[in-house]
Amino acid sequence: MILVTGGTGYIGSHTVAELLGAGREVVILDNLCNSRADVVERITAITGEQPQFAQGDIRDAALLDHLFARHKFEAVIHFAGLKAVGESVEKPLEYYDNNVHGSMTLFGAMQRHAVKRLVFSSSATVYGDPATLPLREDAPLHATNPYGRTKLMIEQMLEDIARADPAWRIATLRYFNPIGAHASGRIGEAPNGTPNNLLPYIAQVAAGKLKQLSIFGDDYPTPDGTGIRDYIHVVDLALGHLKALNHLAAHSGLHVYNLGTGQGYSVLEILRAFERASGKTIPFQIVPRRPGDIASCYADASKAARELGWQAQCGLGEMCGDAWRWQCNDGFIRY
Ligand code: NAD
Ligand code: UD1
Repeated sequence: MILVTGGTGYIGSHTVAELLGAGREVVILDNLCNSRADVVERITAITGEQPQFAQGDIRDAALLDHLFARHKFEAVIHFAGLKAVGESVEKPLEYYDNNVHGSMTLFGAMQRHAVKRLVFSSSATVYGDPATLPLREDAPLHATNPYGRTKLMIEQMLEDIARADPAWRIATLRYFNPIGAHASGRIGEAPNGTPNNLLPYIAQVAAGKLKQLSIFGDDYPTPDGTGIRDYIHVVDLALGHLKALNHLAAHSGLHVYNLGTGQGYSVLEILRAFERASGKTIPFQIVPRRPGDIASCYADASKAARELGWQAQCGLGEMCGDAWRWQCNDGFIRY
């Protein structure tokens, strides 16, 4: 039995679907602050298996004690947290409380109940503005906003926990830019309000919900002047969690992995790929750079390939095609 915090969210729901598909049993703990309960039925429809669902908060130690006493968890995959960079600048205390205090409360419950196997969702944001590319796991770490600092603090907390007690087995996964959706079109990313991230924004322009894409700067030192990122299909990312769990079954200690494709694409390349996948024209304008953005960021994902036997499989066309199917299926556009 695996406990998945944040399991009704974007990456969590895809990971739960893959876990169930691989014959694992799952309990989801989610407070639904950024997801919907009907995701549980959607996962069940996709997989034919039903995950157990507990609505609640990772900061609720009594609830955690109850869950850990009731189930014999083999491991925890910890997705729950807040993730909007801009919001974290405006409401830092909410981010430290939810992400850092929430994670401490969860790790405390794991310790009390002797469940010492953990896969943690970190982010490439912990590398800050990269000095060299591609990014290896041993590159210098430097968070540039409160959200990034919460991820860095949790990573450091986990290093201390692993150092203090060798019984802990921890995989810290640094995600690059997850996009796309399940091929069924039944689960995907559902941002609240106007999206901040590129792919959901483009998808909503293509669907006619938003007028045009604003490209944040075309004067970066990149071939076409627009920002370059390492976009990875969310199902590939989900499969990385299963590989990490398998690895922890055979290896002690703390392990850090980049989960990316190793291939960077510019904003304009993404826009063109989405036009091809959707058959729609996506109007855009060039606007000034977004404060805090970096020119380029992509992974050296060879450590995960070597040690976990994991490599991203999906190309950009599939990522955009699946994102478009999800956009169409979830009722945003009426035919
Ligand atoms: P998401 O918002 O879709 O999912 C997070 C889930 O956690 C939501 O369902 C939310 O309701 C739940 N949650 C939040 N706070 C909670 C709490 N205190 N108690 C219980 N549940 C709580 O986000 P996502 O994109 O699926 O991200 C999952 C994790 O991966 C996050 O930790 C995020 O920081 C990290 N991450 C995401 C990205 C990305 O681009 N999506 C990139 C790098 C890292
Ligand atoms: C953002 C987060 C980062 C997080 C990552 C996960 C910020 C500042 N950073 O990174 O912490 O780990 O998501 O996916 O929010 N772009 C446009 N127009 C738009 C939106 C984006 O041109 O409307 C450009 C950006 O300038 C960037 C690229 O598209 O070059 C990707 O942007 P985005 O999807 O927001 O991801 P990141 O900036 O990489």
